[in-house]
Amino acid sequence: KNVPPTIFVIFGGTGDLNSRKLAPALYNLFLDGWLPEQFAIIGTGRSELNDDAFRERLLGDINEFSRTGKVKAKTWDGFAPHVYYQQADVKTAASYKEFGQRIKALEQEWGTMPNVIYYLAVAPEFFPVIATNLAKSDLATDPERTRIVIEKPFGHDLDTARELNRLLAQHFEERQIYRIDHYLGKETVQNIMAFRFANAILEPLWNRNYIEHVQISVTEDIGVGDRAGYYDTSGALRDMIQNHLLQLLCLVAMEPPVDFTADEVRNRKVDVLRAMRRFSPDDVRESAVRGQYAPGWMQGQEVPGYREEKNANPQSNTETFAAVKFFVDNWRWQGVPFYLRTGKRLHRKASVITIQFKEPPHFIFPREATENLRHNRLVISIQPEESIRLQMQAKRPGVDMLLNTVDMVFDYEGTYTVEAPEAYETLLLDTMLGDQTLFMRGDQVEAAWELVMPILTSWQNRTSQNFPNYSADSWGPESAEALIARDGFHWFTLPLHAKK
Ligand code: BG6
Repeated sequence: KNVPPTIFVIFGGTGDLNSRKLAPALYNLFLDGWLPEQFAIIGTGRSELNDDAFRERLLGDINEFSRTGKVKAKTWDGFAPHVYYQQADVKTAASYKEFGQRIKALEQEWGTMPNVIYYLAVAPEFFPVIATNLAKSDLATDPERTRIVIEKPFGHDLDTARELNRLLAQHFEERQIYRIDHYLGKETVQNIMAFRFANAILEPLWNRNYIEHVQISVTEDIGVGDRAGYYDTSGALRDMIQNHLLQLLCLVAMEPPVDFTADEVRNRKVDVLRAMRRFSPDDVRESAVRGQYAPGWMQGQEVPGYREEKNANPQSNTETFAAVKFFVDNWRWQGVPFYLRTGKRLHRKASVITIQFKEPPHFIFPREATENLRHNRLVISIQPEESIRLQMQAKRPGVDMLLNTVDMVFDYEGTYTVEAPEAYETLLLDTMLGDQTLFMRGDQVEAAWELVMPILTSWQNRTSQNFPNYSADSWGPESAEALIARDGFHWFTLPLHAKK
């Protein structure tokens, strides 16, 4: 795979996303030899900076945030000349004219027509103005060569998501639009498809006949930090479930695609969202719970409650935890519950998908031998442990027929010596290669909103009476335990291993 000559324009060049994720990812792609000779990054922002000052800034960011550690002087000397800065006011036509001139100058210097990627690393309220101005200034007319990249949130609800899609569609073709859900770029998440569709032994079991239930749990130990300004208008359902967790669910539940092309894969994923059972207000009460963290202690440190966080409303009704039970109403999954949960300030950071199989139909061993019997489980651990475990019963060594549960483990750390790329490295490379497989298509975004809307509306209409309702360093509110316990299950937590 070769990246063609490319100009990467980053709106929000002096912002947090560029510092923490984009610049380090681009640098690492350079380090790994992915970037072509004819490559330029143009950072833009409101600050007045010249190219050198911007380069210095990025050097500091990359030193701090890159997975590959401190930058070596020689590599930096190779990378820095590709980086430029242009001060811009995204609302004025003059700024776009200047972009046009810069791009033209590079085209002339290179003697070729490069691809141009506009990355909107800015707050979503700027998406419309930038998208419109790019189009008006004829900077994105050629769908073969120009692309636009945006980050979630894609709308605040179904209506605003539709509005955003309409606006983008006015100016761009869908094949030019790259909507990032960074979970899809994670190595372990991409592996779900490899694991499911490159192995013949799973498919016969991968359905309602053998699978009892599925859990997708993305727990975080951090609080909202200084993001409460955004978070207070969002909440766990919008921030995590509408996008990341539902995407994980799609990867687990999708039908096998015919091939690994962007639209085929995305069609199969959107089929899942369409098959998911819609919630009535009663279903919401029964199948969705929310929580908000109280002040407390985490690892010996006193931590504020959500309502005490900077910029949070002291009476906030925003949920920092959500757990929902979904069903996928199709032949494969009829009757199999999918439990999703996510929250902040929980006991541990862990993203884990657990597929629990049914019990054996008939058990031949004496009851005493089965006390610790567990269900077979396939546990896909996305982070921080990166592994896939198959939990099986086995005979314990000894003269008695005693069984216990053992793990058959595929563990990235023990299996591979190469370090996996960061999600953003994969995703940025894909934008340059023109591969949309790991990006959200407009209809996927809308289908996911459609699904969560009844929950959002119902929660908005019913102020939670008992917030805050879970303590820092716990696994969330009691009601989340009750939600799954009513069906005879419990949330699965991967034992903490010594390694990570
Ligand atoms: C983001 C959310 O999309 O994902 C954050 O806005 C959340 O609230 C983050 O912390 C989690 O991502 P990761 O990669 O750290 O699991």
